[in-house]
Amino acid sequence: MSPIDLRSDTVTRPSEGMRTAMYEAEVGDDVYGEDPTVNRLQERVADRLGKEAALFVPSGTMANQICLHVLTTPGEEVILERGSHVFNYETGAAGLLSGVQLHPLSGTRGRLKPSQVEAAVRPEADVMPRTRVLSIENTANKAGGVVYSLDRVQALAAVAREHDLAVHLDGARLWNAAAALDVTEERLAAPADITWVALSKGLGAPVGSVVAGSAPLIDEARRTRKQFGGGMRQAGLLAAAGLYALDHHRPDLARDHEKARRLANGIAECPPFSIDPAMVDTNIVMFGVPDDTADEVVPHLRDQGVLVKAFGPSTIRATTHRDVSMEGIEQAVDVLHAYADRAPAPTS
Ligand SMILES: Cc1ncc(COP(=O)(O)O)c(C=O)c1O
Repeated sequence: MSPIDLRSDTVTRPSEGMRTAMYEAEVGDDVYGEDPTVNRLQERVADRLGKEAALFVPSGTMANQICLHVLTTPGEEVILERGSHVFNYETGAAGLLSGVQLHPLSGTRGRLKPSQVEAAVRPEADVMPRTRVLSIENTANKAGGVVYSLDRVQALAAVAREHDLAVHLDGARLWNAAAALDVTEERLAAPADITWVALSKGLGAPVGSVVAGSAPLIDEARRTRKQFGGGMRQAGLLAAAGLYALDHHRPDLARDHEKARRLANGIAECPPFSIDPAMVDTNIVMFGVPDDTADEVVPHLRDQGVLVKAFGPSTIRATTHRDVSMEGIEQAVDVLHAYADRAPAPTS
């Protein structure tokens, strides 16, 4: 039996229909701007996000780094949340590629508050970096797929505008936020100067993200993509997967959220694991294990056919996605129950 892989939504594999769409894609040289399928994807995403233009890039990390690069000059500062992907999981690239300093703030469940951003903006002073960008991640991955409401995003952007900061939105899972809130991606992206969405996570495409913003910013982004080594040639094969995902997979995200809720409710019934199911907003389920045992629990579950990720000594992350069915979730809950039955009682 193949394992129930809940490590990430990035493990999704192209569906049969997607593979056919890739096979049949019309292609050209995208560095010359001549790939019709890439152009179609870019127009489609720009339209969906309500932006003037868009650019297909190989990864979310490159998308974030391109966004920061086009918004800043070296020596400036970016305010972001402490758990954000840019701060934790991009190998220090913002310092290396753009010469910017990251200014992390501790949000609540991964979300920044307007008042704390306001307080963090540097005054104009010879000795200080200039605060230039506010970076928001919606959903907030490390916090457990937590959704920023539209009101909160707008309030944060209002503070940014007051202080002349640009707004960057990491929309790796903006699709999930939109599905959870039942608002369009366009409304969630509207307060951002530049944003991007991933095709290779819950949407199930093998590769790719799309950056969107004003035409001048995207012109700069195109140049930066080349500089960072991300210019691609017959990328229409990959863009076709993205177009297919938008047409056929995007509607399934709400179902992934249902699976996450079912998993969370199942976990809530099996101490020694701990979770508050009400804290599960989207497709990411974070749960606690007692006595710093995540490194023991993860291999045990793996041996029983359930793959999850340790996210700290006493925290485990399980992510639902289109390649795990509700039946798979029920099986994972059974495995967790079996572990709970054999585990010694928690010490406190
Ligand atoms: C919130 C967030 N931003 C950026 C990324 C980076 O995306 P990629 O893995 O495509 O580089 C991820 C990856 O999981 C993510 O979760």
